[in-house]
Amino acid sequence: MNSSTRIDDLVQCMTLEEKLGQLNMLSAAGDSIRTSENAALVDAVRHGQAGSVLNLVGAQALKDTQDIALNETRLGIPLLFCFDVVHGYRTIFPIPLGEAASFDPDLWKRTAQCAAREASADGIGLTFAPMIDVCRDPRWGRIAEGPGEDQWLASIFARAKVEGFQGEDHDLQRADKLAATAKHIGAYGAVTAGRDYASVDISEHSLHDIYLPPFKAAVEAGVAAIMPAFVDLAGIPISAHRALLTALVREQWHFDGVYISDYHAIAELINHGIARDLTHAAALALHAGMDIDMMSYAYINHLPQALAQGLISQDEIDQAVRRVLTLKEKLGLFDNPYRLTPHTMPNEESRALAREAAQKSIVLLKNDANILPLSPTGGRCLIVNTREDITSDALGSWSGAGETHDVRDFETSLRAALPARDIRYITAPDQNHFDAVRKELNHAAVALIIVGEKREQSGEAASRAHPKLSEYETALIKIVREQNLPCIVMINSGRPLIIESAYDDADALLACWFLGIESGPALADVLTGRVDATGRLPISWPRAIGQIPIFYGQKPSGRPYNAQDVFTSKYIDESNQPAFVFGHGLSYTEFSLSDLSCTRHNDRINVEVRLKNIGAREGTQTLFLFLHHASTERARPYLQLRDFTKCTLKKDEEQLISFTLDEHHFAQYDDHDDVIFESGLYDIYVGTKADFNHLLSCQITIDRQLNILSFTPNT
Ligand code: NOJ
Repeated sequence: MNSSTRIDDLVQCMTLEEKLGQLNMLSAAGDSIRTSENAALVDAVRHGQAGSVLNLVGAQALKDTQDIALNETRLGIPLLFCFDVVHGYRTIFPIPLGEAASFDPDLWKRTAQCAAREASADGIGLTFAPMIDVCRDPRWGRIAEGPGEDQWLASIFARAKVEGFQGEDHDLQRADKLAATAKHIGAYGAVTAGRDYASVDISEHSLHDIYLPPFKAAVEAGVAAIMPAFVDLAGIPISAHRALLTALVREQWHFDGVYISDYHAIAELINHGIARDLTHAAALALHAGMDIDMMSYAYINHLPQALAQGLISQDEIDQAVRRVLTLKEKLGLFDNPYRLTPHTMPNEESRALAREAAQKSIVLLKNDANILPLSPTGGRCLIVNTREDITSDALGSWSGAGETHDVRDFETSLRAALPARDIRYITAPDQNHFDAVRKELNHAAVALIIVGEKREQSGEAASRAHPKLSEYETALIKIVREQNLPCIVMINSGRPLIIESAYDDADALLACWFLGIESGPALADVLTGRVDATGRLPISWPRAIGQIPIFYGQKPSGRPYNAQDVFTSKYIDESNQPAFVFGHGLSYTEFSLSDLSCTRHNDRINVEVRLKNIGAREGTQTLFLFLHHASTERARPYLQLRDFTKCTLKKDEEQLISFTLDEHHFAQYDDHDDVIFESGLYDIYVGTKADFNHLLSCQITIDRQLNILSFTPNT
């Protein structure tokens, strides 16, 4: 790593204590440094014992703290303020799993840009985002924070978010940019049985081909920081995993940013059983490549002993210090330590973006007899809300500096969108309300039932062994069914939820996640058809808990499913299929797909397909391109996502959609993180979801120069 003269000079004159202060990240307890809970933080800053601070929000609090670092410490090195700006700062956007459903990289980038503008206006320099842990297990609460089950999608999401937070030119000095942190490297999404903080034990191949590619994409996009996961990987805790953090990511991928430990993770090396004490833990983490210690006090208090005992070298400390100071320099903190710029938030522009993001995140899972969109006229529309804190729930987990009073609610929004309809809204949180609901149903023409999780039921430390609708919710939906009323079920959640009988009982089902501050207007927009339903699932939606982990990228079996043959791969009591597959999502119009072709053009393969809107209104379709390598040394999944695109067509309009494939689309990683590209036979699929009934396919044989040696249409 090259560091500037300023940094060389600084490092030269720093004491060991000052150096360790730069490696120490402390958390604020409240959101003002004037509160007594933060006396310890203020004291540490004053004594040069903190280089960065997390969880402090509010321009004034940040300014006051920065003043102490600048004016009361010997060297006046500015602090770096960090925060979990995961899906917005003050303008809260849909949770990442919801936003992933938009399959819209440009949107992903724009929401990150907006979050960066707001957070940095308040003095923050770094966000602990994007979270890009591939996850195939909806029991894990943190599935809400990332883009879902697919590594290709997660890689595109990672790139878009890093470019959004940091800017494409990576000029972090710009007042509207944030340094991004790719987290949590080390296959955290594969925790045993979906239980947070549990162990991870996966094959080298899965690690390199599924879980690491999004991090590689983030590094290629120039991400400023990486946070290692809390967990161990086959017995080696990631916070001490030198082979991963240093040998692979730093040396082979050329990551030159900063590693930030997760909260207290260095001290937890003792619980993992690999560190004897904090001195040993600090030495293991530093030696593995960890630059910043978040809240373990291991570096600041124990690296001196580690150094004295010869467990680490002065050079290792200096390298970490240089990396931290270089990040501060890149952020322009030495010249503009406050970063403060007055900015109104949320504002009209950020609200418009939040509304667009929320609209595009909603997934219409089922719509029998085109019961949706709701017509502007007709009988009474009864909304039965089962959750009491629906407004604050809209903020989801990690809601930054979001405020409940910024949330525009569904009831008001639906009334505004359907002025000619009689709308009745009731809250019915438990079975004591059955009778009241029954009475109301007598006067209703259609019922909208809002079910699902509270915001704290997903996110960190919110794993669920029973990720499903409650018995009460299921019974409520049944009551509506029994009255023969059209029943629309809106599911709020941070994960796919098993819905059991509601799958049949509801006429329409919508995955509504936690949609952020424009939740209400966006829901009204989609329910009334003001905009098309365009979200598609970035994650398989299981039928039953026993199917978990469930994902579309299944490898072939020696005994593939056959209903007639007992000894084939299946359950005896449940289908193999999820309730809704990856990519599933309905529009308010219909599309046809035809004429799949494949040609070679300028050293690339051009795949074309004709998409036509054959329904009654304008709409947007998402098309996915999957590959299957049919002749390889190692069995590959039946389907692997390699591209996706969205297309809006008017009624009767058609368009030729093309995908361009080069070598990297055909590449995969081997156990050593080497990219391998194999010539041979490939199936190419294009369609609307990861379901063979909804895909057109052809087969090509390619050589190493991507020449098409054979082409078989319509396989
Ligand atoms: C713990 C979480 O695992 C991590 O994602 C987050 O960034 C830190 N705490 C800081 O809040």
